Amino acid sequence: MKLSFAAAVPPKTGAVIVGVLEGGELLPSAARLDTEIGGALSRALKSSRFTGKRDEVLALVAPAGTTLSRIVLVGLGKADAVDALALQSIGGTLVAHLNTVGETEAAVLLDELAAIAADQAAANLAFGARLRFYRFDKYRTREKPEQKPSLKKLAVLTDAASAAKKAFQPLDRIADGVFLTRDVVSEPPNVIYPETLAEQAVELASLGLEVEVLDEKKMKKLGMGALLGVGQGSSRPPRLVVMTWQGGRKDEAPVAFIGKGITFDTGGISIKPAAGMEDMKWDMAGSGVVLGLMKALAGRKAKANVVGVVALAENMPDGNAQRPGDIVTSMSGQTIEVLNTDAEGRLVLADALWYTQDRFKPKFMVNLATLTGAIIIALGHEHGGLFSNDDVLSERLTAAGKAVGEPLWRLPLADVYDRDLDSDAADVKNIGSGRGAGSILGAQFLKRFVNDVPWAHLDIAGMAWTKRDAPTVPKGASAFGVRLLDRLVADHYEG
Ligand code: BES
Ligand code: MN
Ligand code: ZN
Repeated sequence: MKLSFAAAVPPKTGAVIVGVLEGGELLPSAARLDTEIGGALSRALKSSRFTGKRDEVLALVAPAGTTLSRIVLVGLGKADAVDALALQSIGGTLVAHLNTVGETEAAVLLDELAAIAADQAAANLAFGARLRFYRFDKYRTREKPEQKPSLKKLAVLTDAASAAKKAFQPLDRIADGVFLTRDVVSEPPNVIYPETLAEQAVELASLGLEVEVLDEKKMKKLGMGALLGVGQGSSRPPRLVVMTWQGGRKDEAPVAFIGKGITFDTGGISIKPAAGMEDMKWDMAGSGVVLGLMKALAGRKAKANVVGVVALAENMPDGNAQRPGDIVTSMSGQTIEVLNTDAEGRLVLADALWYTQDRFKPKFMVNLATLTGAIIIALGHEHGGLFSNDDVLSERLTAAGKAVGEPLWRLPLADVYDRDLDSDAADVKNIGSGRGAGSILGAQFLKRFVNDVPWAHLDIAGMAWTKRDAPTVPKGASAFGVRLLDRLVADHYEG
């Protein structure tokens, strides 16, 4: 789909999309069109249940008195609430509608809106449209043309066309990052494994990122026994990838993002049940988000120093796999009793977090991980879980999430939970003794490896993959976290 911005001149062919405020008030451009075609829009409004609520759609096909293929009325919601997020949502909704009905060419007429500047309005509508247009279809070789998305061109018509084009540039780069994340998370586990995911990171060097790949030998030398233990049951060797973006002052400490990258989680010897195990291909979503985030930041040339670290391993149960009861020594020097090989994400992150703070002395670390099934029990698929040792970082993350539509909910950390991780045989064990507070225990475990650096852990197990289409997120890999962390950097760590 080709996106463009142009002057507010209504086209003669294709689809025209006009806005309607909640309550049925046509925007001025829609009202003019209505007059030209003898009040057909007003009549359509009267004889339907369309009320102009956000994301409602009402289409008039082949309208009389025009050469247009259709006129689509789209609900904008209440005038004072038509903000950037609302426009993204509307853009996504329109793309889905146009693709379903078989439209190839469409133009959106955007008027002055009360709550957002014209250039930002147009740019955000286009951003939402692009985000929804994503499709992972490379392995569908027998699809008929009529099953494929139809839309080829979408123009946003506005008086602020050139400013809108400029405002769209960084959003377009963020969408590039989101798409990389969705791609690598969607790929099957026979295609994406530690070495091939590392290759995806290496490709980002073309954007000006520095990328290093640590193999087993290097990790052994660094003492990463926790990460290596997880990978040892697989014929595909683990990797740790470090990406650095230097967009800020030379001497300024970086901010750091760390991703769990289990390219497939069988559970290891503590093996998972067969039903639904295929979902564990997306157990590398935390890493996928870090890759996409780094691509977005480099793509829009963010004025910040940023480190991205991904800890990559495949959790498999072969003859060399680690056993429940094994004790491994992490890079921090702490020994870990591995009582459940399925609690592997915290093990790879233990070494990745320690390594990151030790080498980069970052301002803060944020890790992303599909860490626990328990976070889905607690928060469902509506919020990512947030754990942090730092109230300011925590509030900034929550605010950024709200601003981009990727909401987080903070859960507690406390010594009373931490005690449950003390092991009789080693310094720490990788699971608690009871059945409660599973997500908190995972967070408490990670906290033992952050060396008191300001840190947050995002448990995205409920958010990384969606089973239902949303306006800007087609079902599948969501890339939850890319927009959020890009916004965190943009709002607090640039310039
Ligand atoms: N990758 C899983 C968590 C997960 C579950 C993500 C469902 C997405 C959907 C993780 O490695 C895991 O297996 N966690 C265990 C921890 C337990 C053994 C303490 C869990 O949640 O059951
Ligand atoms: Mn697991
Ligand atoms: Zn896992």
